[in-house]
Amino acid sequence: MTNTASTEPTDPRDILRSGVVRAAGKVALACSFSVEDVVIIDMAKELGLPIGVFALDTGRLNEETYEVADAITERYRVAIDWHFPHHEAVERLEREKGLFSFRESLENRHECCHIRKVEPLGRALKGLAGWITGLRREQSVTRTELKAIDVDELNGGIFKINPLLEWTEAQVWEYAETRRIPTNRLHKQGYPSIGCAPCTRPVTAGEHPRAGRWWWENPEHKECGLHRR
Ligand code: ADX
Ligand code: SF4
Repeated sequence: MTNTASTEPTDPRDILRSGVVRAAGKVALACSFSVEDVVIIDMAKELGLPIGVFALDTGRLNEETYEVADAITERYRVAIDWHFPHHEAVERLEREKGLFSFRESLENRHECCHIRKVEPLGRALKGLAGWITGLRREQSVTRTELKAIDVDELNGGIFKINPLLEWTEAQVWEYAETRRIPTNRLHKQGYPSIGCAPCTRPVTAGEHPRAGRWWWENPEHKECGLHRR
């Protein structure tokens, strides 16, 4: 086991194992079908860890993302626990503000993310002792302070496990290619980070990997609310 001075594990497999043991109850991966999330499913399967997989279908995901979901179900025989936004809330939002209100202000963007992601996340986490994410420290200025295994006070004090926290993008891809895991076709088309279709665009060479997410906003605002602390 690779340990820091504080005895917290830093190797993804150690974090996964240790997080699941510490949670001592039902644990599930929040899966956006990014390369990081599929790497975690692959590791958990290799380790024989009994984790669930849930996904938040915002209604605005890319077709390519659903294709990965299908490929994962096939390869790993996992049942994906899909969660949808409340239809009344989406209907009201679209009737009152239109289909692209999230481009008009930060407040409107947060409103859309809240309806389509944050509220469904709350339901997905019900009954869990811990949840796993594909967050990595180097992804964003908003993620530098994260811990590999944390207590998620905003979500009822359950464990939040981030196995790939210290991995670089290159390490993730090396694992993905060695293990030939299913990956989103958009990654190879200039999308290092993929969210909802209307809020994600490809990046150009040299741009930050998350530059294509909510590209009209400043880096410190680029969170959808799933990972509030
Ligand atoms: S976001 O906050 O900017 O949207 P990002 O796309 O980087 O997050 O994904 C980070 C992690 O959040 C993913 O590895 C995954 O664990 C979780 N996540 C993001 N979007 C979803 C989703 N639609 N469904 C389930 N989990 C998600
Ligand atoms: Fe809405 Fe865009 Fe947030 Fe998706 S990422 S929930 S479309 S604002």
